[in-house]
Amino acid sequence: MAKSADIYYKIHPWKIIEEGFRKEYAMVSESVFSLGNEYMGTRGNFEEGYSGDSLTGNYFNGIYEAADLEKSSYKGMIDKTEFIVNSANWLYTRIQADNEIVDLYTCKFKDYVRILDLKKGILTRSYIWVLENGKEIKLEFERFLSMKDAEIAAQKITLTPLNFSGDIILYSGIDFGLIHHMTGKNMWNIAGSTADNDSISMLGDTISTDQSVLVSCRFQVDCREWSDIEEEKKLVRRFVLSGEQGKSIEFIKIIRNLTRKDIKEEEKENFKTKWGKNQEVLHSLSYQKLREDTINWWKRTWQDSDIVIEGDGLNQQGIRFCIFQMHQTYHGADKGTIIGAKGLTGEAYSGNTFWDTEAYCLPFYIFNNTEAARHLLEFRYLTLEEAMERAKTLDCKGAFYPIATITGRECCSLWQHASLQLQASTAVAYGFWHYENITEDEEFIFENGLSILIEVSRMLASRGDWNKDRTRYGFYGVMGPDEFQMMVNNNCYTNYLGKKTIEYTLSVLKRYSNKNPDGYEKIIKKHCLLAEEIEEFHNIAKHMYIPYQEETGIFEQHEGYFNLPHVDIDKIPIEEFPLYHHWTYDRIYRNDMLKQPDVLMMMLLYNSDFTKEQLKSNYEYYEPRCIHESSLSPSVHSILASQLQKEEEAYKFFGFATRMDLDNYNRNTGEGLHTTSIAAAWMNIVYGFGGMRSDGKLLSFAPSLPKEWEGYAFKIHFKGDILRFKVDKENIKISSKAGLGIQILVYGKPYILGQDEINIPVIL
Ligand code: BGC
Repeated sequence: MAKSADIYYKIHPWKIIEEGFRKEYAMVSESVFSLGNEYMGTRGNFEEGYSGDSLTGNYFNGIYEAADLEKSSYKGMIDKTEFIVNSANWLYTRIQADNEIVDLYTCKFKDYVRILDLKKGILTRSYIWVLENGKEIKLEFERFLSMKDAEIAAQKITLTPLNFSGDIILYSGIDFGLIHHMTGKNMWNIAGSTADNDSISMLGDTISTDQSVLVSCRFQVDCREWSDIEEEKKLVRRFVLSGEQGKSIEFIKIIRNLTRKDIKEEEKENFKTKWGKNQEVLHSLSYQKLREDTINWWKRTWQDSDIVIEGDGLNQQGIRFCIFQMHQTYHGADKGTIIGAKGLTGEAYSGNTFWDTEAYCLPFYIFNNTEAARHLLEFRYLTLEEAMERAKTLDCKGAFYPIATITGRECCSLWQHASLQLQASTAVAYGFWHYENITEDEEFIFENGLSILIEVSRMLASRGDWNKDRTRYGFYGVMGPDEFQMMVNNNCYTNYLGKKTIEYTLSVLKRYSNKNPDGYEKIIKKHCLLAEEIEEFHNIAKHMYIPYQEETGIFEQHEGYFNLPHVDIDKIPIEEFPLYHHWTYDRIYRNDMLKQPDVLMMMLLYNSDFTKEQLKSNYEYYEPRCIHESSLSPSVHSILASQLQKEEEAYKFFGFATRMDLDNYNRNTGEGLHTTSIAAAWMNIVYGFGGMRSDGKLLSFAPSLPKEWEGYAFKIHFKGDILRFKVDKENIKISSKAGLGIQILVYGKPYILGQDEINIPVIL
């Protein structure tokens, strides 16, 4: 892996600290210092403005724009795509003194420090601005997004003239004039604005998707005079502050952002009435109280989801950053929201959600916040109709889930992915299965999962085919998770996941018919599911072809893979990475090189279906062929390497899991955080070193301790209890918070967990 760490931030167990500001790191830091609360996200931009490289980014989950693509005469291509839209800058600020406006790109400054406090969810920054004439002003900034009331954000600026007394001008407002980075365009029409003594509001409508964002701000500051300036798409209040040497002036801005995603007429009418209400609500809020509530939210959250690593400050900071980002991006507050590949921290991947959600993120929520896991799955239920439309476009029956989406419609304009990858659909089915396996929430599966399972199975039964002699079933012309093998037949992962999906569908149908015959009849009718179709499902699952070489125990990634020309990936010069930029698209597809795990991914998801010998043979065959071009790749290899007691490899692949963004490993953190890889980093510790497996009947663990660590501890929410694991060089100590008597396996042996700690010698 041609990657190296770029350690820029100070190491601290609970804080990300930037001491001194390096301009070349400005965009990376904007991503790293992003704040989010699932509903909205704001990059760590300098609110006072910055004329160097920057992406001023403020996003709302589900507020998007659409663009028409060139119409293709080929059937199945999408002709419209959707992307997250950069909305209003609600933190807009400018600070002026003696005709100079502060700008860290051009001004003189000293004592710069920025701190993201992961424990509290508060971002602070301070420095001394040195004016051309030698005057000095200390500027301190603080901001947070409310975790209790997601529509609220708050900002405090403290200004202290250090060696003079005189006026300081502060501009604060709402700026809808931001440019969407990818398209280079602004996406807002201004529908109105208001201002009164201490607040301003502005309403923006998206240009083509008919959605709205209403931003209202209330100001608290002791000022000599103020006036409003309205420019195109921007409303700003100008405050004249009387600075006194050594005396701090505090400026507070509380922001309430309302969104209208729904385009129904009554929703629009409803939204209009919120205009005045917004100001009213703002008047009832206090900065201190909002701050306390947010700190308490994080306190509660950390209590039950922290991971402690002893003896490794870098990874301790790294994993806490990851956990923080997971909760910021999503915590199940709303059913229709998604996890974009970059969360709410940038515009790369267009804010779209991928199979990453079910395959990589869902485990974090299943074991930290079951309700959030359920809500995440509900998004797929709410978008079943769109998946069924997509199936029709692709000449299939049932439901074909999109590779990339915001609203449920396919947004991926690369047909190789959008038409050939079935893994989003099977990942959705896998997600429901995994959720049920852990929570036993059968009701939810009957209510929300079954419709999806029927329609996805139906799609599989129409997308796949029988071989010439009708002895085996498989999928032809597909692409598996490894995106370097296009248009292949019988991709092992796709066939295996297809088989599992259909088997699970049949099992849920059977259980439902036994437990609720009326409900069963209703759902059968609703989906017009015929007995012959069910019979066909059985047949397909039974005859699904899984390419496997008995003598070696290796699953063939797809038919013919073993005969592909071999590329020695160690001989590819470092300068040629990322390969997408240096090799033609078709050249990538013409050999046995892998972008990311495919067979190995299957072996992780359904781990207990395979023997350790099989895992070893496949790992040793496929890992040397994988270039890990996807950031999702190394953690999966690390988890499996741990299982195979390949400690050094496990640690090597873990090497950049927790710190991928903090150390800018992929050199693209500036575009936004790798949010779904961040989820894989959590898995890397819990499934990797903790050896947890959640695909069996009982939850099982096989902890190991990297020799670089003194110990580690993690927590798992499970069946209404919280299981606590502490691993050191000698022992594994396990207890449960509520002592519900949960049974687990450790190194294959059963244990019942109470509140009292049990001690098991660690196998190193
Ligand atoms: C990976 C996909 C993933 C997508 C979004 C791609 O580079 O190959 O598996 O879904 O990124 O994270």
